[in-house]
Amino acid sequence: MSDRDSFQSISWENGYLRIIDQTFLPKREVYSDLTTVGQVWDAIKKLRVRGAPAIGIAGAYGFYLGIKDFSMQNFDMFYSESQRIADYLNSSRPTAVNLSWALNRILVTIYAYKDRSVDELKEITLKTAITIHEEDRRLCKEIGLHGAELVPENARILTHCNTGGLATGEFGTAFSIILHAHKAGKVNKVWVDETRPLLQGSRLTTWELQKAKIPHTLNIDSAAAFLMQQGKVDLIVTGADRITKNGDTANKIGTYMLAVLAKAHEIPFYVAAPYSTIDMNLESGGLIEIEERDDTEVTAFAGKQTAPKKVDVYNPAFDVTPNNLITAIITEKGIIKPNFAKNFEKLFT
Ligand code: MRU
Repeated sequence: MSDRDSFQSISWENGYLRIIDQTFLPKREVYSDLTTVGQVWDAIKKLRVRGAPAIGIAGAYGFYLGIKDFSMQNFDMFYSESQRIADYLNSSRPTAVNLSWALNRILVTIYAYKDRSVDELKEITLKTAITIHEEDRRLCKEIGLHGAELVPENARILTHCNTGGLATGEFGTAFSIILHAHKAGKVNKVWVDETRPLLQGSRLTTWELQKAKIPHTLNIDSAAAFLMQQGKVDLIVTGADRITKNGDTANKIGTYMLAVLAKAHEIPFYVAAPYSTIDMNLESGGLIEIEERDDTEVTAFAGKQTAPKKVDVYNPAFDVTPNNLITAIITEKGIIKPNFAKNFEKLFT
């Protein structure tokens, strides 16, 4: 396989944003062209584009789509309207910090060039979005190379949700580790949690593993404990949506459960993420806003109602794994072991 995935989840097509609409996968590979900031907001909200780094990249291009037709020439007006666009995009999904990180990076860049004309600032905005996209590809490759070193020979790896090229600029985070360990001949198989309720594991991760020709088996989320009890899992690796200063990690609902199980079965539990997922402004996981999604994601399955009408539902999209359950966090800077607070301070400030 080349350095480029056999699909391109996000691409800038000279004036508009093209995404694979992930809601159609695995049945159909449908590309959707987004020409307005409203369409980008909607695509993020509805998980047409999803995964922490991918929504940061899409948000950055969406920012440009939102400002490209501004007609004012005054910097203060341009900046305050740009802030409005950033706030709007950021309201689409709250948990993954990569979105606000990317939007904020553009705002900071615009401000740094405040002496330039508005036309130049628009160009700078697009260039920053492209840089964020390109940089993510590089970071994900680095994560994969570092993380592959942790994978033993003949490894059986369990993963959750989707963390591959669909969820990032390319390669993925946890998926990049699997990919690079596979290239090194170390992967026996990947256990893929289906990831209820939206099935990112069964719809998306298996699709990517099939394309990469990596051996894998799909299991329901609640089979994970039994797999570990039978000694069929050597390590667990997941991605992250937001990691706080002390290493507490928000990721797809069900991740915390895996970390507790890993501890009970003495299996290493790794988290993989680029620096853009580390939120050095939040002290600990209890401060992370957890997105709650629509009841219908739980009360219906494949279009069929599976719970009585008007049933009360709790549907958090993410949970928080406390740092003491995490063996190491793999970033582009290498393998970070506890004490995370101390090590993050050294590497990311
Ligand atoms: O709700 P989703 O599908 O956007 O959730 C995605 C995850 O939880 C991923 O594990 C995380 O974003 C890491 S992606 C490289």
